[in-house]
Amino acid sequence: METCFSSTIRTLSAVEYIRPLRGGSQPHLLRADDDHFYVVKFQNNPQHRRILANELFATRLAHAIGLPVPESVILDISAELIQSTPGLSQYRGQPTEPCPAGLHFGSRLPTTDPRCPIYDYLPDPGLELIANLRDFWGMLAFDQWTCNCDRRQVIFCREHPCRPLRVYMIDQGFCFNANYWNFPDSPLRGIYDRAIVYAGMSGIGSFSPWLERIEGISIYQLSEAASRIPPEWYEHNTAELTLLVSQLDRRRLRLRSQLSALMAKLGLIMQIAGAAQGKATGEHKMLMPAAIPYPANFPDPTHRPLSGIRL
Ligand SMILES: Nc1ncnc2c1ncn2[C@@H]1O[C@H](COP(=O)(O)OP(=O)(O)O)[C@@H](O)[C@H]1O
Ligand SMILES: [Mg+2]
Repeated sequence: METCFSSTIRTLSAVEYIRPLRGGSQPHLLRADDDHFYVVKFQNNPQHRRILANELFATRLAHAIGLPVPESVILDISAELIQSTPGLSQYRGQPTEPCPAGLHFGSRLPTTDPRCPIYDYLPDPGLELIANLRDFWGMLAFDQWTCNCDRRQVIFCREHPCRPLRVYMIDQGFCFNANYWNFPDSPLRGIYDRAIVYAGMSGIGSFSPWLERIEGISIYQLSEAASRIPPEWYEHNTAELTLLVSQLDRRRLRLRSQLSALMAKLGLIMQIAGAAQGKATGEHKMLMPAAIPYPANFPDPTHRPLSGIRL
């Protein structure tokens, strides 16, 4: 099956600072010169500079095999914007460290329509309404391939009020084991903490068509996608980037057996996901970026009662 590498990664300029967001990499929300909003991770984030490289590379690969990921861009932030925005800094102890001018990673919000809130979590009855729930299966194959050492993270959103809710896969920063660029495999890599999303999986066939697409990526396409990463995001270490690409390439030879072994443990994985789910019960957070101006008469969605929420 054909893979689809979009030919360009856009480089945009940031034009407006909105607000900080939560997350270990201390992302911030900014508006770019295409008038869209982006969750931005900075070169001096407290996790590691390579998180940006991982986000751009892994998100591009995920998109190429047909997984629902937000568009990722390279965002150019000017010294002027940083100087005029005290909040545009990273906390790494006091005093906070201003973000450097230059190229940073941006993940585009799927919508800016205030009638389409963005959810971080949904309870199980909400998950059953997600139009593309099976994409969790493909993402599991992807996370196993890229050894995502973080739990699977997603957001839910409608692109338009008349469209169904969809899941989008976010936060690829810990693919390739964060800054280490090695692959400490485990059946638990990339598991989402709601077992219901894996209900109905049976055997290696559950990973079709994504597995075939992963296998169909050429080494040229892998290298080309990696070559788009700004070199300052990986300390200009071309040798390590080349090694990363060749490891990713070779890992595909045993991905089928890796995923078959995973399927054999699916019951256990569902139990683990179920246990994590127990901890998260009641969490039903809504992330509509509050600083994106709502129309004056639009009710604040964060005050809508949970039980009355219409999905
Ligand atoms: N493309 C996006 N659209 C909307 N919200 C997003 C997007 N990417 C991230 N977020 C939100 O920003 C938060 C932080 O992003 P994330 O990538 O998880 O950062 P971190 O690496 O710090 O955990 C997420 O929990 C999610 O709520
Ligand atoms: Mg995260």
